[in-house]
Amino acid sequence: MIASNLDACALPPAAAGREVTDLEVLAALAESSYDEVSRQLGISRGRIWSLACKYGARKNEARIQERAAQKRERQREFLSQAMNAVKRMDVLDYLASLPDNCVDLFVTSPPYNVGKRYGGGDGSGDNHRFHYYLGWLLQVCSEMERTLKPGGTMFLQVGATRSPDGKSMYPIDSLLHQHLVAMGLTFQNRIVWTVPHGLTPRGRLANRYETALVVSKGEQRVFSPTAARGKTLQPGKRAFKGPRKGQVSSHPLGSFPTDVWSDIGHCGHNSPDKAVGGGHPAQFPQLMARRAILLYSAPGAIVSDPFSGSGSTAAEAKRTGREFTGCDLFYEDTRSARLAAVSPDLVTELPGVTDESIAVWQAEARPAFQAAPQLGREQLAALDRESCDLLIRSGLASQEAA
Ligand SMILES: C[S@@+](CC[C@H](N)C(=O)[O-])C[C@H]1O[C@@H](n2cnc3c(N)ncnc32)[C@H](O)[C@@H]1O
Repeated sequence: MIASNLDACALPPAAAGREVTDLEVLAALAESSYDEVSRQLGISRGRIWSLACKYGARKNEARIQERAAQKRERQREFLSQAMNAVKRMDVLDYLASLPDNCVDLFVTSPPYNVGKRYGGGDGSGDNHRFHYYLGWLLQVCSEMERTLKPGGTMFLQVGATRSPDGKSMYPIDSLLHQHLVAMGLTFQNRIVWTVPHGLTPRGRLANRYETALVVSKGEQRVFSPTAARGKTLQPGKRAFKGPRKGQVSSHPLGSFPTDVWSDIGHCGHNSPDKAVGGGHPAQFPQLMARRAILLYSAPGAIVSDPFSGSGSTAAEAKRTGREFTGCDLFYEDTRSARLAAVSPDLVTELPGVTDESIAVWQAEARPAFQAAPQLGREQLAALDRESCDLLIRSGLASQEAA
């Protein structure tokens, strides 16, 4: 049996005593398959393969590259259609349709796999086995990484999901962190967003915060802390040592932002920013989306939310002068109504500036203008009469010196 297999691998008699040129092989390859060329010319498939690769004559290779180019073209077209729009489609289809490196910022919150009745369903769409859910979420994150621009940021707002046995809850950010880092993303912050109200469980503390993981693709390109500065607690406080001793030590635009956001609130049924119709069971607060957008993107940037829901991210992107794109399986009408009511905000307030901090800084302000020294007799003597008159009129030379 072994002997007959070896016989089958042996070169056909045509190879015997004859040198087959590369040109002959390539000409034959244009018409025939590897096996046929091997039989016709009596040379090994290995030689055919290496020649085909060397001269780019491998039919499959060319086809693969052609298909990849077609796919890139389709992705570019899709992106142009999906600009300033939220597509009604599955998240993995949406992300697969986007080109590599095209999004500046993702601001999103995935389903937590806790049986939420999205789209008015029975909750089964958000109720999978733990490992299925985790694998799916990692696929989504991996696609977000592919489509994020180098230097771009992902802001992933997450809570807790059910443990595999369903008896306790696992924090989703802890589950994701090591995988995001393994994808090559750079950890920036874990933001704690405190939630004023919620369920009261038996036997453990009531959960009153959710988190957002902030990661970037390599070195983060945009970080604008002023967008999130807080109120200065003591605007009149002065430096008590160092070169600025005695001067006001606080920043005029407010305190440096921290990773604890306790002023965001909760998007409950009666919240003023609840989307029209109030039909979304897990809307996140508008202020959170706005702060993330202002912190991590510049005007004109492309902001994506692949779980757009009621359109919180899209509405805030529009309000702050960014381009948005996204998808969701449901809530088209809610989003349309919400987006129609939003117009770009032409005057954005600085969050940390208060009447008190302005008063302190105005009291300390020194005039920027200082009178220029007047020109002397010799300098004026070098000028013509017209220039002298001009300088006297503008106060830069005195009548006596002239
Ligand atoms: C936590 S909510 C996001 C809410 C959104 N941030 C807001 O403020 O309205 C998750 C969203 O994911 C959507 N969703 C669930 N599975 C999806 C899938 N396979 N593809 C696209 N969207 C999906 C749900 O319809 C839901 O609106």
